[in-house]
Amino acid sequence: MARVVLSLLVFFFKYSIVLASVKTHTFPLFDETVRSQFVITNGNINKGALQVTRDTANPTPEFSLKNQSGRILLDKSFRLWKISAERTTLASFNATFVLSIVNQTASGGEGLAFIIASSKNDPPDNSYGEYLGLFNQSTDGSYSSDVVAVEFDTRKSTGADDPDDNHVGINVNSIKSVTRASLSPHNVLLKNASDIFAWVQYDGKNLSVYVNAGNVSDASNALLSFAIDLSKNLPDNVYFGFSASTGNETELNCIRSWNLTVEDISDSSNKGTIIGLAVGVPLVVVLILGFLIFVFVRRVGYTHRKSQRLMERALTDSTGGPRKFRLKELTSATHNFDKKYKLGEGGFGSVYRGLLSNKTPVAVKRVSDNSHQGLQEFLAEITIISRLRHKNLVRILGWCHEDGELLLVYDLMPNGSLDKLIFKMDNKNEVLDWDRRYRIVSGVASALLYLHEECEQQVLHRDLKASNVMLDSEYNARLGDFGLARLIEHDKNSYTTTAVAGTPGYIAPECFHTGRATIESDVFSFGAVALEVACGRRPRMESQQIHLVDWVWGLYRENRLLDAADTRLAQKFDRDEMLCMLQLGLACSHPNSQERPTMRQVLQILGKDAPPPLLPLFKPAFVWPAPPSNMSEILSSSRDFSIQENQSSSE
Ligand SMILES: *[C@@H]1O[C@H](CO)[C@@H](O)[C@H](O)[C@H]1NC(C)=O
Ligand SMILES: *[C@@H]1O[C@H](CO)[C@@H](O)[C@H](O)[C@H]1NC(C)=O
Ligand SMILES: *[C@@H]1O[C@H](CO)[C@@H](O)[C@H](O)[C@H]1NC(C)=O
Repeated sequence: MARVVLSLLVFFFKYSIVLASVKTHTFPLFDETVRSQFVITNGNINKGALQVTRDTANPTPEFSLKNQSGRILLDKSFRLWKISAERTTLASFNATFVLSIVNQTASGGEGLAFIIASSKNDPPDNSYGEYLGLFNQSTDGSYSSDVVAVEFDTRKSTGADDPDDNHVGINVNSIKSVTRASLSPHNVLLKNASDIFAWVQYDGKNLSVYVNAGNVSDASNALLSFAIDLSKNLPDNVYFGFSASTGNETELNCIRSWNLTVEDISDSSNKGTIIGLAVGVPLVVVLILGFLIFVFVRRVGYTHRKSQRLMERALTDSTGGPRKFRLKELTSATHNFDKKYKLGEGGFGSVYRGLLSNKTPVAVKRVSDNSHQGLQEFLAEITIISRLRHKNLVRILGWCHEDGELLLVYDLMPNGSLDKLIFKMDNKNEVLDWDRRYRIVSGVASALLYLHEECEQQVLHRDLKASNVMLDSEYNARLGDFGLARLIEHDKNSYTTTAVAGTPGYIAPECFHTGRATIESDVFSFGAVALEVACGRRPRMESQQIHLVDWVWGLYRENRLLDAADTRLAQKFDRDEMLCMLQLGLACSHPNSQERPTMRQVLQILGKDAPPPLLPLFKPAFVWPAPPSNMSEILSSSRDFSIQENQSSSE
């Protein structure tokens, strides 16, 4: 009997997961009724198909079909991976589609690709020809392209080592495929105007591609299969769709039907499963009903009540602070959220440039409705930042909560975000000079000190990274995006959550054990930013295998720390300042949280009131749990550097 119950349980468990956790989009054909579900750039929906590059019928006679690139993406982001406790969870997905390519010139070109992209942005400029709307000469091969694609290539380009003019390939941030296969031995001819069935599958480990002539699915053998951890190559939220291009030879690149199924790994789906299990032991019906009721109650009741409470608090607390805007004002300020005015995409929404009626330029953050915790995060953000005043924090001007729209209005930062400035693709025209870099890092430090020690109620930033550091007109650092910040009392030292928030490379190692952010984990993130600014490299380096900290620490050991300096600075920097920032970056990246300096010490060092920290020659091993220590000692600003005394060599 027990065994029967157990196997039933296992069955229900599996069943409930399947029920609770996929998102499916089915397009048997494409017509006007689905147009609003797509973001279309240079393409069209016509004759029942997605025309990823345009056909002859539109839009104007003088429109040339040559050298075009287009993209059509589903206007919806999907959670591709998340980090919780100690592991990364990757969403699996299946995309099946029928494609059809029609030659418009004798030999046709260039090809079509299924794409997973970090944003809904247009294809890069000049991504026509061999670049398939994926890359251009400057973004090709750059890990910051954040594009993974499956190409259906109808032209042999020599630069990309193509086997022929009829092949598939898997592309990771480069038009040069990581693996490729000719379709000719499989009796599939791409540019034949006939229907070709393709299936792209990701199971969390391998990306596999199946292709068949005719529109039949056949899973017998994968043409391509490539082991890839997509969390290393793409951000956690991604968009799915297609891109294509023409060159001097042209073709019509069409998708005739498309099914997309993506595993739902958002937190609510997990909670749903667990609660579903606890409720529905004996009957599937009970289980499903329980889950549905849970979702319903949670959506309608719980969120509503809780958010209303928070909202009221935010409203009453904000006297003299940010003001409430009308939706009308903000839609007209941003020209109805025109794509042209979009500044970027954050963790839970897009940011637009706007001009208020009194001519004040502003940045408007539009919280997207498909981030399910939007409302709470929104309210938390207002409540927290409306109380903070510091010259290195982005000032909030107001908010709007109307018609289901959640909007935040900030001072516009004319110089954008730090990461854009440091990692700008076309870096030839302007390199951020050293004086500015030093001032920016000092500004970030001063903002963090304020948050940690000087403001009324201690605040952890929790998601400090270069893309959250904004720059005003004088290139002063302004910290933004406190979406993940949580108020904590001064006597409590951390805030517990179930999942580790933040961004890989900026997350302190102990967070994976404790699941909570602390003052020290903010210091760790600061270290990552300091190293990035000094080296002009991201925390996870190009090869993805080596961490920036390890690389810099290696150079420190070999007594050639200055080799870590950003080469684009062309040696134009103050040697002592550079050494100081690099050493500080390493000290803040110390694997053991207790050994990291406090922000007060960091500021003293940057202000040249204290010498740069000495470091052990080898990066110490991460020890967990950390050796016990006296809290008052850690928080006191008089603590001297104990890093050099406390060395424990590893490796
Ligand atoms: C993708 O398809 C395979 C084979 O049909 C299936 O086992 C897997 O569960 C599917 N994954 C998703 C997310 O639908
Ligand atoms: C999409 O799913 C439907 C229903 O399961 C199926 O009939 C159709 O062939 C699928 N289309 C593609 C392109 O996979
Ligand atoms: C590549 O695309 C980016 C973004 O559209 C653009 O800024 C850059 O100028 C392009 N580079 C080339 C060589 O066209």
